[in-house]
Amino acid sequence: MDKFLIEGNQPLNGEIKISGSKNAALPVMAAAILTEGETILDNVPRVWDIRTMSFVLRTLGVRVEELNGRLKIIPPKLLHYEAPYELVKTMRASVLVMGPLLAKVKRARVSFPGGCAIGVRPIDLHLKGLAKMGADIAIKDGYVEGYAKTLVGTRICFKNPSVGATENIMMAAVLARGKTYIENAAREPEIVDLANFLNQAGAKIKNAGSKTIEITGVDRLKGIHYKIIPDRIETGTFLIACAATGGNLTVKDTEPENVRSLIDKLQKMGVKISTGDNTITVERKSRLRGVDITTSPYPGFPTDLQPQIMSLLCTCAGSSVVRERIFENRFTHVGELQRMGANIEVQGNRALIKGVHTLNGTSVMASDIRCGAALVIAGLSARGETKISRVYHIDRGYEKIEEKLSAVGARIKRIK
Ligand code: EPZ
Repeated sequence: MDKFLIEGNQPLNGEIKISGSKNAALPVMAAAILTEGETILDNVPRVWDIRTMSFVLRTLGVRVEELNGRLKIIPPKLLHYEAPYELVKTMRASVLVMGPLLAKVKRARVSFPGGCAIGVRPIDLHLKGLAKMGADIAIKDGYVEGYAKTLVGTRICFKNPSVGATENIMMAAVLARGKTYIENAAREPEIVDLANFLNQAGAKIKNAGSKTIEITGVDRLKGIHYKIIPDRIETGTFLIACAATGGNLTVKDTEPENVRSLIDKLQKMGVKISTGDNTITVERKSRLRGVDITTSPYPGFPTDLQPQIMSLLCTCAGSSVVRERIFENRFTHVGELQRMGANIEVQGNRALIKGVHTLNGTSVMASDIRCGAALVIAGLSARGETKISRVYHIDRGYEKIEEKLSAVGARIKRIK
């Protein structure tokens, strides 16, 4: 298994190009099942989760070709409808094929996604919503089996915003009979990107990005040529990295509006930030001040940047409180940061951080994508050498992260 070796305490200076959004591309790939003809997706990140979704689609009989970040997707006349355990266990987002399969071929058999390091990750909201649209849903032998003679539009209100459930119901509703209203919908930019893709393919979706999404079912969708939005979590990860190491970094081909909550927090900490149409420049010269962070659904502070900003808060002046309100176990990075000398005390879903002057490099282990990113940031700012194991977690969600960082002055290399 690959490892990263990082020689810390090097400022980042220069420019990084942001890749396409993994969490926008995954549902759009699943949505391609709904179309007839060829779909071309541009700006798809070359990361493991995208490859896994390509395998899932191929298992369903869909033709998927990848060439330099461009995907060509051609659904078959007759789709298979089973997503096997071997693939779903490596990526729970495979469950996003349920809605499209029920809409297109009236059947779906998807391995029940297990939990992961950050939590149980239930899919009850997905299943209740699909059932309310007329699907018969049963769980047998570790698989979710769905059957829907006809999907009928209805009003679905989520008890809490769920990105995946909003996406699954939206994809089921675009070919359903009549209107569907999704209330308390997730508002993430990835939801808007999915709706834009579907509308360009012929769907009728209104108000994606707001709390209530209206979908009017149509008969068919056609394959299209579409460009995926930039990855806001990769963007935030690099902004935080430069805030942690010092220096002057510009990220380009990104969307500043999609990381507004992070920019506001970094500015409060004392980071100098300027934004252009598709660029964000961060500069950090003096020591930063700690701030309090509470994660919440978009447009609040994203849970997917909580581990990364905690790495930064470890060496800020003063103390900070980080409250994780989305997932029940998203503090797996705390123990690793403590091994590097961080002063963190966990009380339930709150972490109390007292700033120390510097972290010290040592051997640490990544347990999920964003925990891994947090350890890269900690290693970049720490004194001495940090060795990070299980970097396959990082490769699931970041395209060539060590090459992008090396190009702006970081001393990071991958060792087999
Ligand atoms: C998406 O996961 C992202 N993944 C996650 O990013 C991200 O952390 C999460 O949204 C929150 O923003 C993809 O987009 C592929 P949710 P998802 O449904 O859809 C509970 C990464 O690092 N819930 O919005 O699974 C759930 O337990 C990944 O790229 C239910 O109770 O997240 C959680 O507490 C990690 N029942 C909360 O809702 C359900 O049926 C939000 O989960 C579904 C979710």
